[in-house]
Amino acid sequence: MEIKILFVCLGNICRSPLAEAIFRKKIIEKGFGDVISVDSAGTSDYHIGELADPRSRKSAEMNQLEITHRARQLIRKDFEAFDYILAMDRTNYSNILKLASSDEHAGKVFLMRSFSKIKPNLESLGADVPDPYFGGDEGFKNVYAILNDCCDNFLEFLQQKHPELV
Ligand code: 4NP
Repeated sequence: MEIKILFVCLGNICRSPLAEAIFRKKIIEKGFGDVISVDSAGTSDYHIGELADPRSRKSAEMNQLEITHRARQLIRKDFEAFDYILAMDRTNYSNILKLASSDEHAGKVFLMRSFSKIKPNLESLGADVPDPYFGGDEGFKNVYAILNDCCDNFLEFLQQKHPELV
């Protein structure tokens, strides 16, 4: 059985395509490339069809990653197609849940930062992967570091949940 992961942000051009690239590299390195698949989407229709933001692609390149993803919008069918849907921030999280049509579908949705090693206080901004779109390069560096940490811990979580991942 393939385990299907979907990372979701607002525009699907900054955070979620970077999360997708980081996580894909990790699963390939671990030899799980055939059993885990990864994709990303946005809750908005702002950037459909576009390549990732150049700042995200640069941040990926600096870490030996490539982003070829083109932005797409989250659709209801994604709740059937994917096993885990990871929201980059609390606004994404609540917008994703608005599209879910059953408890089973809603149960697939997680907040990305719930996988931070240091558990963020959910009432603070530490619950979000901050939106870097309107900021500078420093914001993208910060996003990379947060995503890298969350991806490591999410993979550990998956390995505990799915004993076939050894
Ligand atoms: P993302 O960043 O959700 O991480 O892809 C954003 C991209 C575009 C916009 C906002 C955030 N926008 O307002 O167009």
